Amino acid sequence: HRPETFRDETFRGDFSYANSPGNIRHFPFPFHEDHYRYSVNIEPHVPGLPGSAFEHLIDVDEHYLAEMADRAQVLAEDPLRYQALPHMMLAQWDTLELLMEEQARAYPHLFTLERNGDQWRWINRPLGIDDTFTFGDPSTLPREPLDYICRQTQGDIALMDQREGNLWMDAGMITAQADWSLDFDVGMNFHEWHAPVPLAPQMGVFDRALKYLLNLQVGKPVRRLNWTMTINPRLDTSPETYPKWGPDRTTVTPENVGQKVHLRVELQSLWRLPRSNGMLFVIRGYMMRMDEVVTVPKWGRRLPRVLESLPPELAEYKGLSRYRQTTIDWLKRHDDGAPTSPGI
Ligand code: HEM
Repeated sequence: HRPETFRDETFRGDFSYANSPGNIRHFPFPFHEDHYRYSVNIEPHVPGLPGSAFEHLIDVDEHYLAEMADRAQVLAEDPLRYQALPHMMLAQWDTLELLMEEQARAYPHLFTLERNGDQWRWINRPLGIDDTFTFGDPSTLPREPLDYICRQTQGDIALMDQREGNLWMDAGMITAQADWSLDFDVGMNFHEWHAPVPLAPQMGVFDRALKYLLNLQVGKPVRRLNWTMTINPRLDTSPETYPKWGPDRTTVTPENVGQKVHLRVELQSLWRLPRSNGMLFVIRGYMMRMDEVVTVPKWGRRLPRVLESLPPELAEYKGLSRYRQTTIDWLKRHDDGAPTSPGI
């Protein structure tokens, strides 16, 4: 999968975002059976099928430039979407190294990293960047290392410090979030920032997940998929901007489901950082409108069944309640009742 061209599109205003046919096949459809419950769905983050979102560990696709432009606009309007506590500087450098190396290795036609001792040169062709800097010296970069590299990487990023047997969200750049706020969560630990999630705590999901993560090893990243739905292809659905997008949920009608309702999937990867012993959490988001979902018949069959299976607390937490039934009814026209096989 070699993105050569990038779509000229928007995630606000006229919402011109769409997926090319090739990118529909690239989409990480998250349901391997006809119902959904929370679980500790963590697996090794290893390269997957060519053309899939899993082919490269840090995925770059046709939306790269448009996503970077949307991110820059969010940051210009609200600088607090980027935050880093002072003790996270080493973890920032770890992250810059990891994201540069992964992207340059996977997409040499787009990115080049030249390392000569601590003198590094980074070339980002899509964004027209060619910078030389001293690794470890923040004064040689135009911005803090994390700020610098996150503006050139698809997906939101949270950086955790590990101490006292817990993970602490002590830095990040969050501009494409499903209704949570870095400014609110910064400095919190694993259980604190997960407090709004229903059902999962009682199932022991968070206790087990944290225990697993505390033992994560360098060079052995893991991943999980999470999902929700969004009305219009809007990346920035934050609590801070709720008045701009919350009311969109009331605009879904049987006629516009195909265009307006989007499945939003997060391919989350977790990486132990070598120098700081911190942890990098990449939340790589993908959106696909219902018209696009049903171009893959097995997805069109499965999604309404999954939506019907959701416990009410989960549907409410994900913000689906107002348009869930309208969407199921629309999708059911594409469900011929055939049994689906296990797997994606
Ligand atoms: C939701 C962060 C790891 C399971 C969330 C939320 C945040 C978050 C900010 C939204 C909470 C809200 O509503 O305000 C993180 C970070 C992680 C991490 C930074 C990395 C250390 C995990 C892991 C699991 C997990 C390993 C494994 C089970 C969940 C679930 C939800 C959630 C089930 C609810 C999602 C939904 O229904 O849409 N997480 N999380 N998280 N997290 Fe995590």
